[in-house]
Amino acid sequence: MERFVESDAIKQHVDLIREVFLYAQRFRGGTFVLHIDYAINLHGLLAEVVKDLVLLQQSGIRMVLVPGASQRIDEILAGYGIENRRHAGVRISPPEAIPFIKMAAFDVSNHLMTLLTARGTNAVIGNWVRARSMGVRDGVDYGDTGTVDRIKLEHVQKVLDDGLVPIFPCVGWNAAGKPYNISSHELAQELAVQLGAQKLFFITDFNGITTGEYELDERFEITTDQRVHRMDLAEARRFLELNEHHAERPGVELVRRGVAAARGGVARVHIVDGRIDGVVLKEIFSNLGVGTMIHANVYDSIRPLTLEDISDVLRIMRPLVKSGVLVARSEDDLRAQLDDYVVFETDGTIYGCGALHEYEGGKAELAAIAVDARHAERGTGRKIVEYLLAQARRRGCRQVFALTTQTYDWFSMHGFYPGTVQDLPPGKRERYDRTRNSRILLHDL
Ligand SMILES: CC(C)(COP(=O)(O)OP(=O)(O)OC[C@H]1O[C@@H](n2cnc3c(N)ncnc32)[C@H](O)[C@@H]1OP(=O)(O)O)[C@@H](O)C(=O)NCCC(=O)NCCS
Repeated sequence: MERFVESDAIKQHVDLIREVFLYAQRFRGGTFVLHIDYAINLHGLLAEVVKDLVLLQQSGIRMVLVPGASQRIDEILAGYGIENRRHAGVRISPPEAIPFIKMAAFDVSNHLMTLLTARGTNAVIGNWVRARSMGVRDGVDYGDTGTVDRIKLEHVQKVLDDGLVPIFPCVGWNAAGKPYNISSHELAQELAVQLGAQKLFFITDFNGITTGEYELDERFEITTDQRVHRMDLAEARRFLELNEHHAERPGVELVRRGVAAARGGVARVHIVDGRIDGVVLKEIFSNLGVGTMIHANVYDSIRPLTLEDISDVLRIMRPLVKSGVLVARSEDDLRAQLDDYVVFETDGTIYGCGALHEYEGGKAELAAIAVDARHAERGTGRKIVEYLLAQARRRGCRQVFALTTQTYDWFSMHGFYPGTVQDLPPGKRERYDRTRNSRILLHDL
């Protein structure tokens, strides 16, 4: 049957709608942390940004908002004639400034809440951050400036489960209720990592990392509007080295925060210009992207097992072996198959492991997939599986199998389908433990 020929404009429109549905599906139920510079407010654009955030929230994304208050604090301190100093880019907060800093922090949070309310979205401002004093560093006393100590995640998750938008003012309290001024950038980074966010946004009033403002070399891919569109972690670290002497420029701190967040498991960090209409939607729902994106790739956190890691891997496996989910492995077993194993490491801590054992006939077994319970449901297991499948593919394997007693559904989510003992390579078939009676799952490459 002949198709009706439609105009290019309609076709583009339909393509766009399809793309939006695709992305919306991908992110539904995911968490986004958004830091919004006060400068956006000064440009009178906050209401526009909020309009788009509400759409995202309505499409099932769990939104966490951190309004930056730095300029508002400067305004209020200046208005009340209170000394206002910074050292190495960090505000020094004398005790007498704290009531005014709180006033500014809650003022910007309230403003955001008002705009969300006007669009029918329920939000709540909370005291979910435990802070501790920064104290004296390099001889400089930071007064009542604090740093994030602990985020009461269980409360924040409850707020999100109830469909509310939590708003975090840049204030934290110690156990005795003493307030500290904390960096909203640090707070956004910590929240994104601890909530296992898929995305962290820094909505600023500049167009990401551009050539005129920062030192860049030939390794960076530059767009026609003189912007670095994306950086992987190695490039982001290179950027920080090149711009060490520009530490006061806003992009440098954001890239530093972005690297820390990406290392902590946040897949993508976006530095975008809030003055561009619809910038957050454009960044999410179009393949083109605007601003600068920092992204971790799987290979940054997964690496081969070394002898020093063995005790950590056994620690992660122990409770799973005890509950019968995982087959026991000894230290000697791991030593003997060192090359088969990989570990997932973030900031020097091992949170997960997995192995790929090759067999004859282009087959390989995916085994010993285990994730530290304290780090569960942050995509670690998925990344390990994807990594090992890619490795099997590179090695020319045609089929991967896994044996499991209780993780059947999880493997199914990753494209595995049921098989029988006959599907196992002979070397494995002989050793198949019929008393354990594990289910056999297959994945064609
Ligand atoms: C299975 C395991 C590796 C998942 O690790 P993880 O890093 O927590 O998982 P991810 O973050 O990649 O995936 C989380 C998703 O899987 C689901 N999930 C976790 N364990 C599951 C299981 N046993 N069955 C079905 N689904 C499961 C979660 O509910 C979550 O679903 P959602 O994305 O819809 O919210 C981990 O739970 C584990 O170590 N299990 C014990 C060891 C094991 O069974 N290994 C496999 C045998 S080799």
